[in-house]
Amino acid sequence: MEWTVPVNDILKNQITKLNSSLIPPGFHGDVRAVRVMQDSLSKVIDHLGEQSATAQGLNKVITTAEKLRNSPTHILYLLKDFKAKGGKGEVIGLLKVGHKHLFLFDEHDKVCEVEPLCVLDFYVVPDRQRHGYGKLLIDFMLLDTETSIEKLAIDGPSPKMEQFLRKNYGVDKLMHQKNNFAVSPQFFAAVPEISKLQRKAPVATPAVGRFAASKPHSAIATVIHGGGSTAQYQQTTNGFNHCRVNWH
Ligand code: ACO
Repeated sequence: MEWTVPVNDILKNQITKLNSSLIPPGFHGDVRAVRVMQDSLSKVIDHLGEQSATAQGLNKVITTAEKLRNSPTHILYLLKDFKAKGGKGEVIGLLKVGHKHLFLFDEHDKVCEVEPLCVLDFYVVPDRQRHGYGKLLIDFMLLDTETSIEKLAIDGPSPKMEQFLRKNYGVDKLMHQKNNFAVSPQFFAAVPEISKLQRKAPVATPAVGRFAASKPHSAIATVIHGGGSTAQYQQTTNGFNHCRVNWH
């Protein structure tokens, strides 16, 4: 797709970190220049986001400029090839991450309330796949967020993502959760303090992330979600003890 403004004029580095401001680090200009730049940037984000959803067979687009603007805790990394398009540059990949409040089941079917950094969307354009660009993006993000691969939760990993993790990070088999997130088998060991439920966990898990859909109100869910401080470090009406781990 064509940009109004050349990529290399907007994105200075190979990987650019964006937040809800939609202003790339190092970008300078007056109000009009910022608006033109943001229009251009929004088009490329929307285009890549659509491509990513199609590649993953999703019926809704996970990444748009509008969604990023409305998600102050999300970070979007854009990868560019500065030589492409006759030296104008081209954006060839995206990675979106953000913390989510999740209830995850460990290998003993015990539940823990966590807020891990989650991979929410990840995409490299088809003709650039299998050239190490995906690893470049993930490595950059891990360094930038000072985390490690086993501490991440993945929102609806695709088969390619699973192969990617196995090949590049030795993650043999992801533990798939009922809420469609998945974590490495080392995930639970990596949590420094994790409370274990006193008995088998309930089947209900909150709907969050790309497969979330609005659900009717549930009293059990209210208890599990906490609804404020009542659920934290207390025995719930279900008879479970559970912890809340804020994990950054
Ligand atoms: N088929 C099978 N495995 C693949 C493919 C593919 N087409 N592409 C990448 N992989 C895996 C393989 O393990 C590959 O190693 P190999 O070539 O030796 O077999 C490895 O990834 C290559 O690593 P990179 O080159 O660093 O990864 P790449 O730049 O291809 O990016 C990504 C990986 C983002 C998963 C890319 O393949 C892609 O965009 N796929 C389509 C969209 C997608 O599935 N995104 C992840 C969804 S999960 C989420 O977003 C939370």
